[in-house]
Amino acid sequence: MLFTMMATALPAATAFAAGPIPADLREKALATFKALPSTTPAVANNPITPEKIALGKALFFDPRISASGVLSCSSCHNLATGGDDNLETSIGHGWQKGPRNAPTVLNAVFNIAQFWDGRAEDLKAQAKGPVQSGLEMANTPGQVIATLKSMPIYAEWFNAAFRGEADRVTFDNLAKAIEAFEATLVTPAPFDAFLNGDDGAITSEQKQGLALFMEKGCSSCHSGINVGGEGYYSFGLIEKPSTDVLPENDKGRFSVTNSADDSYVFRAAPLRNVALTAPYFHSGKVWDLKQAVAIMGTTQLGEELKAQEVDLLVAFLNSLTGEVAEVVLPILPAETATTPRSAL
Ligand code: HEM
Ligand code: HEM
Repeated sequence: MLFTMMATALPAATAFAAGPIPADLREKALATFKALPSTTPAVANNPITPEKIALGKALFFDPRISASGVLSCSSCHNLATGGDDNLETSIGHGWQKGPRNAPTVLNAVFNIAQFWDGRAEDLKAQAKGPVQSGLEMANTPGQVIATLKSMPIYAEWFNAAFRGEADRVTFDNLAKAIEAFEATLVTPAPFDAFLNGDDGAITSEQKQGLALFMEKGCSSCHSGINVGGEGYYSFGLIEKPSTDVLPENDKGRFSVTNSADDSYVFRAAPLRNVALTAPYFHSGKVWDLKQAVAIMGTTQLGEELKAQEVDLLVAFLNSLTGEVAEVVLPILPAETATTPRSAL
C-alpha cells in the first residue's frame, strides 16, 4: 500500500516541481501562520460555558428566530457543507437574493472582525445583524425575545447559561450564546498537524504549494491562524478584477470607514476550508478554486501564475480542509399557543 502511494506521488511531484522543498519550511511557516488550538478559544467579555454553548447551538439551528420561521443561521451556514450555503449570494427572507456570498462560520472566531468588510467587531456583534436584516431573517429584537419567552424551556436554558443576571432572556444574551457555540467550530487540518511537527501530515506537493504561497507573497495578506481574516486590502491592488467579480456598487470597507482609501478594500479572506466553500469572492462569481487563485495572481500580485503553480497553490489550500467536530442536531423546545406566528 505504501509502495503504491509512493509510486503515484513521486511522478506527480517530479512533474509539478516548482523547486525543492526548503529544509526550514516548517520554521518559515511558523513565522507566518499559527496552528489551531486543541481547545475552544476564549472570546472577549463572554466566558464560555457548556450551558452557553448548548443554548447557542439551539439558537443557531432554530428557524423561529426569523420572521418567517423558515430561516435559521444554519440555512446559510450549513455545518454539513463547510459552514456556508454554497450559493453565489444568499437567499433570505421572502426569497430575496442578498448582495454578498456567505462566508463560512467555521473558525470565524479567529477573524480580526466579521463580514467581508469587517463591520462587526466580533461574533456577538455579528449575530445581531442577520436576525434584523430585512434581506436575511427580517425580525426585530422584541419579536425574537417574545418568541423565545413563549417557550418555557428556552427560559430555563437562558437561566442556566446566564445565572446571576437579573434579566436573562435578552437579545444581547442570545448573541453571546451564539458566539459561544460558534467558538467551538474549530477545524484542525493536516496543515496544523504539519505545523505541530508531523512531517508526513501533508504531501510533498502540498509542501511545495506552501513554500510557493509564501514565496509569491500570498501570505503577506493571507497569514496568521486563519490563513487570512487578519487585515484589509484593496481587491484589485495591482489590476482591477472584472466587474462581475468586483461589482462596482459594493465598495467594501468604504461603507464602514467612509475613507476614500478604503474603496474596494475587503478583508483578506480566511482560507481555512476554502476547498469546501465555493463559490469564491464576496461576489460569489467564481466557482473554481484554481480560477480564484489565478485571479489573485493577476489582481493582487500582478503576475500571471503558471498552471503548475496554480496546481501547487491549490494543493496547499486543500491541506487547510479540517475536521468539523461532530455536531448533534439539538432538539428544540416546542412552540406554544403564545409563540408569535410566522410572518411571510
Ligand atoms: C456573514 C453568522 C444568519 C448570510 C456571517 C458571518 C458570521 C455569520 C459569523 C461572518 C463570517 C466572516 O466574516 O468570515 C451567522 C449567524 C446567523 C446568520 C450566527 C444567525 C443568527 C444568516 C442567514 C443568512 C446569512 C440567515 C442568509 C440569509 C450571510 C452573509 C454574510 C454572513 C451573506 C456575509 C455578509 C457581509 O459580509 O456583508 N454570518 N449568520 N447569515 N452571513 Fe450569516
Ligand atoms: C480572497 C487566495 C494573494 C487579498 C482570496 C480567495 C482565495 C485567495 C482563494 C477567495 C477566498 C474566498 O472567497 O473564500 C490567494 C492566493 C494568493 C493570494 C493563492 C497568492 C497567489 C493575495 C494578496 C492579497 C490578497 C497578495 C493582498 C494584497 C485578498 C482579499 C480577498 C482574497 C482582499 C477577498 C476578495 C473579495 O473581496 O472577495 N484569496 N490570495 N490575496 N484575497 Fe487572496
